[in-house]
Amino acid sequence: MPSWRVVFIFGLAPADADFGRGGHCRLPPLVRFSGGSALGHACATLLAGFRRQPSLILMNPALRLLKPYPMAELQARKAALAASGRRIFDFGTGDPVEPTPPFITAALKAAVPTISQYPSVGGTPALRTAVAGYLKRRFSVVADPATQVLPSAGSKEAIFHLAPAFLDPQSAKNTVIFGTPGYPVYESGALFAGGEAYPVVLDGRQNYRLQLERLPAEVLARTAIAWLNYPHNPTGACVDRNYLAAQLAVCRAHGILLASDECYQDLWFGDTAPPPSALEVAGPDLRGMLAFQSCSKRSGMTGYRSGFIAGDARLIAAYRGWRAHFGVGSPSFIELAGATAWADDAHVAERRVIFAEKYRVLVTGLNDRGVQTLPSQAGLYIWARVPGEADADAYAARCLDAGIVISPGGFFGAGGDGWFRLALVPTLDECQAALAIWPA
Ligand SMILES: Cc1ncc(COP(=O)(O)O)c(C=O)c1O
Repeated sequence: MPSWRVVFIFGLAPADADFGRGGHCRLPPLVRFSGGSALGHACATLLAGFRRQPSLILMNPALRLLKPYPMAELQARKAALAASGRRIFDFGTGDPVEPTPPFITAALKAAVPTISQYPSVGGTPALRTAVAGYLKRRFSVVADPATQVLPSAGSKEAIFHLAPAFLDPQSAKNTVIFGTPGYPVYESGALFAGGEAYPVVLDGRQNYRLQLERLPAEVLARTAIAWLNYPHNPTGACVDRNYLAAQLAVCRAHGILLASDECYQDLWFGDTAPPPSALEVAGPDLRGMLAFQSCSKRSGMTGYRSGFIAGDARLIAAYRGWRAHFGVGSPSFIELAGATAWADDAHVAERRVIFAEKYRVLVTGLNDRGVQTLPSQAGLYIWARVPGEADADAYAARCLDAGIVISPGGFFGAGGDGWFRLALVPTLDECQAALAIWPA
């Protein structure tokens, strides 16, 4: 009786691995087996078959069209800096450090069940009702929690999955419009869905408004989805109801789904008017549009992955059906934490005061050092001009040498050159300390 020792470490064997013959081979570190001849020979034959294939990695062609996700690049740069032991001021990723309010974490802990079962993609009535209550308080919008609200595992996945759900790559109407500079996920969702991405370079002189009415009729005719994002990442530009109504009218006239990413809706600075939602201008049936909102920045819950989609009941029903095919249902305890957050506005007001103060201190300090900033009324960012003749990448590298992490405007696509973005993330003390060493 031969003594078998079979160890399968799952992974992809390198194409040039030597699988050997006669039941003995060594393939460190991915697949290794040794022992008697019969099993060893069978495995060797099987693996040799794989070897004849040119590659086991079949990539979605969309991956080749996309640049690396910019924030991943930023994390890598930051990690290298941290490893050198330097004090870091991280204005890169928009991931706030203010703690989640204790009453939300307490709600989450109390909701962790003894028996944990699969969540439903439609979410709990408690969460949908809390969202409907928030929409009524904040925007005077009446949404039916049963048919016009759907939870998401944070906005990002819901934004990414929209195009695969509502776009037919074979049809002539397979285009997704979005503004750039902007959040990269509108484009990646469109490309992974096999659609056409139609980036529109936003003009600072038009306050970074995406004006659908200015696009050629031929483009609008072949468009399935148009994305808006105000308050805007990365520039902090804001819009009013008239603008939103005009964009929705264009979409309705051309059979385009209007998707409004309203991730920064509740973070306005000081006494300025709260930014409106596209839901406010859509009428009671919310026809032809969906709004995407999130607990992430509003409630300090980026790690929870909790948000919602609200809008047209027919679109919500279709989207719910599509989303049932993959795992985006949120755990019940996350949903309960989300419901608790949407039911309360006081903690958001407290967070607003903190972000508004960081905004004021940084803008004043940067302007004093000769760095120009775009005025903004809401959001989590400062959009600033690269000083001097330097390009944004070179300037970001110079900032990094000083321990300051910023995002060069090019991270956000065409139209970002010559600018950089600061996320209002470091504490007030850190903002002051960073300003003291800020490269001009
Ligand atoms: C414009 C915009 N939309 C959506 C998101 C996604 O937010 P989340 O997935 O945390 O809800 C972000 C995150 O930074 C964003 O900047």
